Amino acid sequence: MTTPFLLVLQICLAVAAKNFHLGRSKGGNLGTPMGYHSEPLPIARWFNQKLDHSNPLNLMTWEQRYFVNDKYYDKKNPGPVFIMIGGEGPADPKWMVKGAWIEYAKRFKALCFNLEHRYYGESHPTDDMSTKNLQYLSSSQALDDLAFFIQEMNELYKLPKDTKWIAFGGSYPGSLAAWARVKYPHLIFASVSSSGPLLAKVNFMEYFKVVVEALREKTGDDDCVTQVKLAHQQITSLMREQPDIIENEFKVCKKFSDASPDDVKNFYNSIADDFADVVQYNEDNRIGANEEYRNVTINSICKLLTNDKEKPAYKRLAEFNAIIMAKNNQTCLDYSYDNMIKELRNVTWGGDEARQWMYQTCTEFGFYQTSSAEVEVFGDAFTLDFFIQQCEDVFGKKFNKEFVRNAAAWTNSKYGGLDVSVSRVVFVHGSVDPWHALGITVTKDNDAPAIYIHGKLYILIKTS
Ligand SMILES: *[C@@H]1O[C@H](CO)[C@@H](O)[C@H](O)[C@H]1NC(C)=O
Ligand SMILES: *[C@@H]1O[C@H](CO)[C@@H](O)[C@H](O)[C@H]1NC(C)=O
Ligand SMILES: *[C@@H]1O[C@H](CO)[C@@H](O)[C@H](O)[C@H]1NC(C)=O
Repeated sequence: MTTPFLLVLQICLAVAAKNFHLGRSKGGNLGTPMGYHSEPLPIARWFNQKLDHSNPLNLMTWEQRYFVNDKYYDKKNPGPVFIMIGGEGPADPKWMVKGAWIEYAKRFKALCFNLEHRYYGESHPTDDMSTKNLQYLSSSQALDDLAFFIQEMNELYKLPKDTKWIAFGGSYPGSLAAWARVKYPHLIFASVSSSGPLLAKVNFMEYFKVVVEALREKTGDDDCVTQVKLAHQQITSLMREQPDIIENEFKVCKKFSDASPDDVKNFYNSIADDFADVVQYNEDNRIGANEEYRNVTINSICKLLTNDKEKPAYKRLAEFNAIIMAKNNQTCLDYSYDNMIKELRNVTWGGDEARQWMYQTCTEFGFYQTSSAEVEVFGDAFTLDFFIQQCEDVFGKKFNKEFVRNAAAWTNSKYGGLDVSVSRVVFVHGSVDPWHALGITVTKDNDAPAIYIHGKLYILIKTS
C-alpha cells in the first residue's frame, strides 16, 4: 500500500471522503511544522504494545510506531526527555526535526520521542477497524500506551532515575498531554497542552459561533457575516424555486431532485465546513502539498464574499466553494449522505482515518459542530440529530443519542472536564481557533497557567 502507484489510486477513489469532517482535517489536525526543508528524517521504530491495558488477562500485543531524535541529548550530561503525543492522524517524522519543541530540545539538550496514537497512521492494533475491533480505541488506552512506552524507554535508553519527561500535544493530543499529568504524574513531570478541548460536549454549537466571531474579528466589521447570511437565504429559496442554478454554481455531483433530506443537510454542512476549514487553519502557514492555497485566509475569502456586490451573494459563496473544491481536487461537490456513510463504514486500514475519529466522537467526546447557535448564518440543517444519526448509521443502532450523551458525561467524570485538577501543565489557546471554546483559557491555578492568545490560532509547538 506504500507504492506510489497504489497511493495515487487511493486518492482517486477517495472522492466521496470529505476533506474536513467533524472538525478534523484529513490526516489529523496537526499540520506539518513550519520551516521544514527536506532535512533527513528519522526512521520509524516499533514498540511492542499491549492491546488492552484494562484487562490483565489479555496478553495480546501489537506494534506501535514511534520516532526518536537523540541528536541533542548528551548521555554524559543528560537533559530531559520530550515526548510528542500522537493524535487523530499519522505521526509525522518532520516534527522530529522542526517545530518550537525542537528549538526547546536544542536548548535543554533533550531526548525527543514521538509516539503514534493507536489506530492511526501505521499503528494498527487489530486486523481491521470493525466496530468490535475498535473497542480498544480510546483516550484511556492511549494514555496507558504512553505510560507503558515511557517505562520501557527509561530502561531501553538506561535513562537516569531522575530524568524528567515533558509531554507535548496539540488539539486532541493537547488534551491527552494534560490528562497524562492527571493519570501518570509520577511518569510525566510536566506538559504543554496546546489547543486541547478538555470538555467533552455532545452539541458543540460554540464551534461555529467562534467561526462567525473570527470572520468579524479578522475583518473588523459585519459585512462578511452578513453576506454569508444573505447567500444562505438566497440558496434556500433558489433550492425551492430554481434548483438548477444552485446545482450549476456549486458544481454538485447529483441533482437536488434526486437528493434525500440527509443529502441536503450534508450539502449545507459541507458549505459550513469550508468556513470551518479556513478559520481553523487561518494563516498557520502549514507547509504541504497545497502551497498555492496558502492565501486562502479569512481575510482573502471575506474579500471575495464582500467585494463585488453587483453579483448575488450566493454566487460569491459558490466562488469560495469552488476554491475549496479545487484545493481538495474535487471535480464535483459530492453531498451524498449515503456515499459518506459508505466510506465511514469501510473497515479496511489505509483510508483517510475519518472512521477512527468518528468512533472516538461517538464513544467519548461528541464534539458535534452543529448549526444550532448560528442558524441565521449557516442554516438550520445540521442539528445534533444529524450527527447522532451518523454514529448509528456507521456503527450501529446502539450508538444512539443517549449512548453518546452518557459516553461524553463519563469522559468528563473521568478527567474532570474544565475542572480538571492538575499541576505543571501550561494550557495554550488562540482566540481564532474554534476549539478554544472547550479548553482552559483562564488561569485558575498558578501551577497550571493558561496562555490565551488573542487574534491568533493555536499550537505553541510551532516555530513562530
Ligand atoms: C491566491 O493567489 C492566486 C495566485 O496569485 C490568485 O489567483 C487567487 O485568486 C488568490 N486566492 C484568493 C482567495 O485570494
Ligand atoms: C490534490 O492533488 C495534488 C496534486 O496531485 C496533491 O499534491 C494534493 O495533495 C491533493 N490534495 C488533496 C487534498 O488530496
Ligand atoms: C476501503 O478502504 C480501502 C483503504 O482505503 C480501499 O482500498 C478500498 O477500496 C475501500 N473499499 C471500498 C468498498 O470502498
